[in-house]
Amino acid sequence: MKFKKEILCIGAGYVGGPTMAMIACKCPQYRVNVVDILPEKITKWNSDTLPIYEPGLDEIVKKARGRNLFFTTDIEAGIKAADIIFVSVNTPTKTYGVGAGMAADLQYWEKTARQILDCAESSKIIVEKSTLPVKTAQAMERILNSGKNGVQFEVLSNPEFLAEGTAIKDLENPDRVLIGSQQTESGLKARDQLVAIYANWVAADRIVTSNIWSSELSKLVANAFLAQRISSINAISSLCEKTEADVSEVAKAVGMDTRIGSRFLNASVGFGGSCFKKDILNLVYLCRHYGLEQEADYWEGVIRINEHQKERFVLNMLTAMFNTLAGKKICLFGFAFKADTGDTRETPALTVAGRLVEENAQVVISDPKALDNARLDTRNIKGDIQFVEDPYAAARDCHAIAIMTEWALYRSLDYEKIFNSMQQPAFIFDGRNITDHDKLFEIGFNVFPIGKPKKVHF
Ligand code: NAD
Ligand code: UGA
Repeated sequence: MKFKKEILCIGAGYVGGPTMAMIACKCPQYRVNVVDILPEKITKWNSDTLPIYEPGLDEIVKKARGRNLFFTTDIEAGIKAADIIFVSVNTPTKTYGVGAGMAADLQYWEKTARQILDCAESSKIIVEKSTLPVKTAQAMERILNSGKNGVQFEVLSNPEFLAEGTAIKDLENPDRVLIGSQQTESGLKARDQLVAIYANWVAADRIVTSNIWSSELSKLVANAFLAQRISSINAISSLCEKTEADVSEVAKAVGMDTRIGSRFLNASVGFGGSCFKKDILNLVYLCRHYGLEQEADYWEGVIRINEHQKERFVLNMLTAMFNTLAGKKICLFGFAFKADTGDTRETPALTVAGRLVEENAQVVISDPKALDNARLDTRNIKGDIQFVEDPYAAARDCHAIAIMTEWALYRSLDYEKIFNSMQQPAFIFDGRNITDHDKLFEIGFNVFPIGKPKKVHF
């Protein structure tokens, strides 16, 4: 079959894989090629066990793979054949040199730009899918247009807003698709080609176009606003614990104001995930770069509150359990940074596990999907950590349970059975407010929710 266009995606990760699977599914007239430098990842994308867990992903990959969706390691051939190249490589926080701990590390990004320049034999549209500091497109264009063979590149910004655990739903029915371009004739022409791809399944009024710098910046700002809501409600959760107000009731009352809205107001042990912290740090770095110190401090506060919330959670455990955790066995229900994913990047559970070990506690980690990652993440923590998938077996003989991830599974366990298998007095610290606290108290647990009055038997 002759395809209308060849699409390439460089980077077969959490974004590249699902995004391209959705485009391939919705646009059978395009050939979609996904490449990565990691052969083992590509092997998994071509197998029955995909490299990431995401509800609904298996079905769409199966539908398109081998038809118009292909996973390979041949980056060079992919670049040569492509009309449109999405770049979806990782852009972690820099760990070295100027901007260490703050700025985005653009080395993978720049390598990709140079590889495109080296291999391309015909003109192409390059789409920034990764999250990048504002003005990166300019650097990209400068690298790409330094070639001498007359090949033309047009750079677009098309940030991704999917959330893990709901990626397929988000991709199928996005709140908006944002496409930024240069406002030149060639820029607008390239933009229209990308709009035409999304128009296969996204309503026209949800495809938003803008200038390229607004698009790059909007991605950082969207994540900063989302994280800010969580830090705001978490800051209120501490006040609730002091005043006997209930943070869920406060969030409901406040969120019913349509100007505020009800989503992303769940108080928790803190937000995790690969992007919120990294993108806010990136925003803070940009503000400082432009001399905007007050603005930088403001956004940095969102991260400070998040770190404080995790520490506060551990200190609450310590205080509640008679000021010593030494030798006590504590079970973490959940290690993933949120439910419905095996991803553990920046998970609050890792911070909590590390701090509990520092207090000489024994830690048992349980999670339905993230135990392999949990083993890797905790390998440098020197202490007693066990990994047990079955929550009943994990909680046996423990002094306390701490709920770290909002997996649906943890709402409906037989807590009476669990209570009877634990050391007494038994404690439960609900870092996600997902259990029935009255019922747990009736069973005999001492219950410590987030932002709600504690329920104790002594
Ligand atoms: P990831 O680490 O899961 O995937 C990135 C992939 O790129 C890796 O498989 C890596 O091997 C590959 N790669 C790196 N350099 C390469 C090169 N030179 N050639 C080929 N492949 C290369 O990262 P991710 O979570 O998919 O994130 C990618 C980007 O998307 C980041 O900028 C992130 O901020 C952004 N983003 C992520 C999410 C999310 O939910 N994870 C959502 C929206 C945006
Ligand atoms: C987030 C954004 O929601 C996506 O729009 C964005 O594309 C993505 O980052 C990204 O750029 O990587 P993600 O991190 O996958 O998506 O998941 P979220 O649902 O945003 O949750 C992030 C963290 O906040 C999780 O730890 C979650 O448990 C926590 N959270 C979320 C709360 O503590 N309370 C809430 O009310 C909501």
